[in-house]
Amino acid sequence: MSLKSNYRDGDFFTKRSKKEGYRSRASYKLKELLQKEIRVSKGQSILDLGCSPGGWIQVAKEFVGKSGKIAGVDLKEMEFIEGCFFLNKSIEEIEQNDFDEIKEFLPFDLVLSDMAPNISGIRERDNALMMGLVDHVLSVVDIFLKDRGTVLIKVFQGESLDYTRSALNERFRQVKISKPKASRSNSNEIYIVGKELK
Ligand SMILES: C[S@@+](CC[C@H](N)C(=O)[O-])C[C@H]1O[C@@H](n2cnc3c(N)ncnc32)[C@H](O)[C@@H]1O
Repeated sequence: MSLKSNYRDGDFFTKRSKKEGYRSRASYKLKELLQKEIRVSKGQSILDLGCSPGGWIQVAKEFVGKSGKIAGVDLKEMEFIEGCFFLNKSIEEIEQNDFDEIKEFLPFDLVLSDMAPNISGIRERDNALMMGLVDHVLSVVDIFLKDRGTVLIKVFQGESLDYTRSALNERFRQVKISKPKASRSNSNEIYIVGKELK
């Protein structure tokens, strides 16, 4: 494998994440998106949907600093991260009072979703499942994201991207699509950002 394809296809990032102490290669996707597309300041609060094993949380913590707050939700357990509030449940089951313990940080400045359904390889099915997840992310956004806040959602290229883009266009003043370098070139995942919740 050439150096270039190794870099593009993510092995470079897998090795780098081990060396730099990140829990997943995905950390570099968020790092790039926060450097290029989304402005995050110290003291802000971020909700990470589908956060396990915690690679995004590690990066998000660096951006918000000690005065900020990160909350994460996942079906799977996550090894403890200092200062992070973790909910071990499906996002379909999130309730209004789930974040009472950190209510001084609500509503969130930024909602992230790196969730994906279990992939079957059948395009229509996978896109339909992804759109179902996106609907749940949007319900969370409607309740927990602050006015003029930002959302970042992973989707698949194709139907779920089109669906999410039009849903975000209704709710946000700016919508942008991005494929970070750490996202494998043979993966059809893509990230969509909605800024300035109306
Ligand atoms: C690609 S991983 C996230 C990786 C993470 N961004 C990181 O950097 O470590 C996707 C996660 O979404 C979670 N997930 C999928 N569907 C979910 C749901 N309905 N509710 C909560 N978590 C879900 C999975 O359990 C999985 O841990």
